[in-house]
Amino acid sequence: MRIGILTGGGDCPGLNAVIRAVVRKGVGELGDEVVGFRDGWRGVLEDDSVPLDLASVRGLLPRGGTVLGTSRTNPFAVEDGPERVLGTLRRSGVDALVPIGGEDTLGVAAKLAETGGIRVVGVPKTIDNDLDATDYTFGFDTAVGVAMEAIDRLHTTGDSHHRTLVVEVMGRHAGWIALHAGMAGGANVILIPEHPFDVDAVVAHVRHRFDSGFSPIVVVSEGAKPRDGAMVLSTGEKDAFGHVRLGGVGPALAALIEERTGREARAVVLGHVQRGGTPSPFDRVLATRFGLAAVTAVHAGETGVMVALHGTDIVRVPLAEATAQLKLVPAERYAEAEVFFG
Ligand code: F6P
Repeated sequence: MRIGILTGGGDCPGLNAVIRAVVRKGVGELGDEVVGFRDGWRGVLEDDSVPLDLASVRGLLPRGGTVLGTSRTNPFAVEDGPERVLGTLRRSGVDALVPIGGEDTLGVAAKLAETGGIRVVGVPKTIDNDLDATDYTFGFDTAVGVAMEAIDRLHTTGDSHHRTLVVEVMGRHAGWIALHAGMAGGANVILIPEHPFDVDAVVAHVRHRFDSGFSPIVVVSEGAKPRDGAMVLSTGEKDAFGHVRLGGVGPALAALIEERTGREARAVVLGHVQRGGTPSPFDRVLATRFGLAAVTAVHAGETGVMVALHGTDIVRVPLAEATAQLKLVPAERYAEAEVFFG
């Protein structure tokens, strides 16, 4: 068989581990040919690909990013995009495509699968962990580890200077990174998009922490908003999938806390450092298992499915179902974190 593979959307640690697993199982065990399209859907639109053999994936397991490159290209936002994609796949003799991506990349995959023009088996990735139908996406554990380590370090410098430190983390419209990193790092306040915050309550927690003789750490997800609607922050710029670029809530909140408490507050925006570098052991194993399972699904003749983690098992779920809605933090999970505020 000839299998096409691509990585789309924001990069995340573990993408190369999937590519390696697909090639090791497909080429090494089942005699397949694997072709990698460069920069996500752009490579398929523009017929830009590279053959992937066993030698080309050596050493990839611990490497962050993606050797295939990525983009947020949306073929459905380009004139004749879907036809061009199907044309490339036909000309390249690709029997099945394995797109590795989040809701956007896999949303395109779901629509292409519906045309019946190509067989598609998706692999879920995103540091945001916001894909429904899988318990975890790879990349998330690494991002949480990076953010937790930052919070650990910020506790000691914050305490030394008796100042509030506000840590802004990624996650777009889902608060998973903030929730897990904040809980793991012992943050004194965690703010997530799913639970609009009350500025007075944040200030009260900050004061309480100072009163106990320590300095507060506030973890804020980039998509978090105050209840009264003020401080809605974005650059206004949109990507090809219509997502507004978020960011800026951390510095704005730090300024507000400083003004309201009369004590110094600083913001740390972790940004892309959460997405870079080597994957954690959990992400290496999950990404590898997803890659193996994708090849097995392709050989089983599946299409329109995504491999997913349910408990400790890798299962197949309909792509359309997986991309229909985001997986957000439930109220009861946030309530667990709230016990430690202040
Ligand atoms: O979806 C992953 C993510 O890192 C989000 O958490 C973030 O909002 C977005 O991508 C940033 O994307 P970029 O800066 O690459 O456009």
